[in-house]
Amino acid sequence: MCECCTEKKDIYLPQMATVADISQMNVTEKYLRLAMDDGQFDFIPGQFVEVSIAGFGEAPITISSSPTQTDGLELVVRKVGRVSGAIHNLKRGNKLGIRGPLGNGVYPVEECKGRNLVFICGGLGLVPQRSFINYVLDNRSDYGDVAILQGAKNFDFRLFTPEIEAWTKRGDVQMLETLDEGDARWKGNIGVVTKLVSKVETDLKSAKILVCGPPIMYKFVLMALADHNVPQENIFLNLERKMKCGVGKCGHCQINHAYVCMSGPVFRYSDLASLPEAI
Ligand SMILES: Cc1cc2nc3c(=O)[nH]c(=O)nc-3n(C[C@H](O)[C@H](O)[C@H](O)COP(=O)(O)OP(=O)(O)OC[C@H]3O[C@@H](n4cnc5c(N)ncnc54)[C@H](O)[C@@H]3O)c2cc1C
Ligand code: FES
Repeated sequence: MCECCTEKKDIYLPQMATVADISQMNVTEKYLRLAMDDGQFDFIPGQFVEVSIAGFGEAPITISSSPTQTDGLELVVRKVGRVSGAIHNLKRGNKLGIRGPLGNGVYPVEECKGRNLVFICGGLGLVPQRSFINYVLDNRSDYGDVAILQGAKNFDFRLFTPEIEAWTKRGDVQMLETLDEGDARWKGNIGVVTKLVSKVETDLKSAKILVCGPPIMYKFVLMALADHNVPQENIFLNLERKMKCGVGKCGHCQINHAYVCMSGPVFRYSDLASLPEAI
């Protein structure tokens, strides 16, 4: 319902936003900073929005900025097709529609307070994780140790490199990065992100572990965490499924009885016991 009257709010009606900044991040991704035309946009790390471009359609895109940042909503978009291609063609000052914030399964911001945190990110998985990472870093004294593990395909697919360098230089974050394939430009770790798990300096068994990456990554990360006896209750997985409406109406994201758009996209691993198809 609308706050000021008894009229039902149209869940399909987007708010308008303006592109405040857009730039190429690497070979496939563009970064966008949006200014919402009517100002305030409240959200929780882990939520996403439906981005609409007139004449092209809508696509679900995760919010990459932290709610602690007030200078606009940040998105990272990989060009794969019609809508994402149209988003890539936007210029500063162009308008687009934003529907949301969507998703009820979000990062456990309160539950993580006082705990050690380990973020395990693969490729574009850094994009949603970054929202919670920066939230934690902006409220640093509320949280324990922070370790960030990031894997990318190769040097050209690295994301947020200046930010990763800044996290590396902080004395209160353990930042570990690896590339599947290295080259002359890379002097760091080589191999998949799971190889970094045993390098984490904090006690994994008692930490909260936040995981986001391509579907193939989850199985191997969960095996590595099981080797370290991490309880399933302490693991949170950000799952992506094909979505259309984002509000539990179309069934596109359904896995058995669950709608990922409504119950997720962030799930506690132990809650997925009845949904083995999810991973
Ligand atoms: C909750 C959620 C958050 C997301 N966050 C981001 C994000 O932050 N940045 C980003 O770049 N992308 C994100 N995606 C994926 C993004 O929504 C799709 O890439 C986009 O909808 C593709 O639309 P399109 O019209 O450009 O491509 P289409 O023309 O519809 O499809 C082009 C190709 O992309 C594939 N594709 C379409 N949708 C998806 C999907 N959901 N997952 C995987 N492959 C897909 C199609 O099968 C096809 O091969 C997210 C998806 C979900 C569900
Ligand atoms: S995307 Fe329509 S039900 Fe989830």
